[in-house]
Amino acid sequence: MDVTVAGDRIDLAKARGEWPAGERVALVPTMGALHEGHRSLMREARARADRVMVSIFVNPLQFGPGEDFSRYPRTFDADLEVCRAEGVDVVFAPSAEAMYGPDRQVSVSSGAMGEVVEGASRPGHFDGVLTVVLKLFNLVQPHVAVFGQKDAQQLALIRRMVRDLDVPVEIVGAPTVREPDGLALSSRNRYLSEAERGSALALSRSLRAGAAESAPSRILAAARAVLDAAAARIALDYVVLVDPATFTPVDEAYTGEAVLAVAAKVGNTRLIDNMVLTLGGREDHVG
Ligand code: PAF
Repeated sequence: MDVTVAGDRIDLAKARGEWPAGERVALVPTMGALHEGHRSLMREARARADRVMVSIFVNPLQFGPGEDFSRYPRTFDADLEVCRAEGVDVVFAPSAEAMYGPDRQVSVSSGAMGEVVEGASRPGHFDGVLTVVLKLFNLVQPHVAVFGQKDAQQLALIRRMVRDLDVPVEIVGAPTVREPDGLALSSRNRYLSEAERGSALALSRSLRAGAAESAPSRILAAARAVLDAAAARIALDYVVLVDPATFTPVDEAYTGEAVLAVAAKVGNTRLIDNMVLTLGGREDHVG
């Protein structure tokens, strides 16, 4: 069966209503410009549900002034091909008007956790993300929703929203997909020139350098050394080692999983990457 495209909540409810009540529904929220990373989310969704819905919506609420909302890649026809190839049942692709109407008032607050690390650099970003994700959950009513670990703070905040607001959906995080040379896949990679793409490898290299150490101070020093060496070509925003549930910095005595997260501008393109490490004597692993 071909993929069904729903452009508003009426089409969406109709498509959703055609599925037998007992079937499990998975949602993969995206902003389009789909790549292999998104495909891995769709496969994860397919493995966990009878029906897979993908939303494609470049959410204006999560972009700040001067960010790339207007130039964010919009590749709907190619995205539809990807969804078709992955056996997606429904693509929900609303306009901003269909999503928010003309007079939206209420939104979700991401709280203090939305104001640190990535949230400190992008004020209001996570409020915008949580608002659209909660709306998607309410509209689609999925049993499970799949998000990439690449946006680690976003994933942590969505888990937190679901817990704090009693949203009945299971949240699944899927591993970051990388190019063979380590570059994390991102829709924004297509902004990079060839030279910038080479420079961008400093991010994943810094994570690997950090992962080779075991104490928090040494992890951060090793990651920072790689980023400092690339300072002529990238503008570092942050490199942090944080608790994956709260995004607060871990101290030297911390044990358990920690996220080593980095953000930097390469030319005009802001990139983020992270790796989940296990501190305290157990093996490190790539997130
Ligand atoms: O990760 C993204 O692509 C977006 O932040 C999301 C979750 C689709 C919300 O707009």
